[in-house]
Amino acid sequence: MLKIGVLVSGGGTNLQAIIDAIENGNITNARIQAVISNNRNAYALERAKKHGISGSCISPKEYASREEFHQALLGKLQEEEIDLIVLAGYLVAIPPVIVDAFQNRIINIHPSLIPSFCGTGYYGLKVHEGVLERGVKVTGATVHFVDAGTDTGPIILQKAVEVLPEDTPETLQRRVMEQAEWILLPRAIQLIANDKIKVENNKVHICG
Ligand code: GRF
Repeated sequence: MLKIGVLVSGGGTNLQAIIDAIENGNITNARIQAVISNNRNAYALERAKKHGISGSCISPKEYASREEFHQALLGKLQEEEIDLIVLAGYLVAIPPVIVDAFQNRIINIHPSLIPSFCGTGYYGLKVHEGVLERGVKVTGATVHFVDAGTDTGPIILQKAVEVLPEDTPETLQRRVMEQAEWILLPRAIQLIANDKIKVENNKVHICG
């Protein structure tokens, strides 16, 4: 049974998609061991509580240095014996000490088709603002492994979503979530939990 640690900062709709997929059997051989937020007021923590999942806050503000914060987060992940870290709208950069300890065991959902509209500065609504500004007709979402860079790790799954002429960043964000993120993230976890993913030369192969 794969023990998942979900890291969140905000509303937690992607966390909800994982919870629902476990409850309805779309994810097997996995359970959420811990939900960890950097933000005490994240609604994601409420969602965890409602489903009897342990939730906690580890905030950088409560530590004297960034280093101490990173050690506290790493300590919690190790204490909970987490096998897979899922970044589900987590707005804090994952430090090298955690990337090294969890090689190819951290996944992130990004709301664009990587390598477009990703990297430093592209988070939250800024991604969708960039998409509308450039005028691309298709965007989407990507689930990828996390490496030392920003949005540079091996790509696991991608799904395209149409951009409509009347879109605002908010309407586009919602469509990308509904049509891509909430589907892809549980699907990627299901593949990992059932040992269907191999990484070779920085590329993901899906087996079976
Ligand atoms: C999602 O758009 C995700 O792709 C991005 O942050 C947002 C989180 O939303 N990284 P939620 O907290 O899961 O509702």
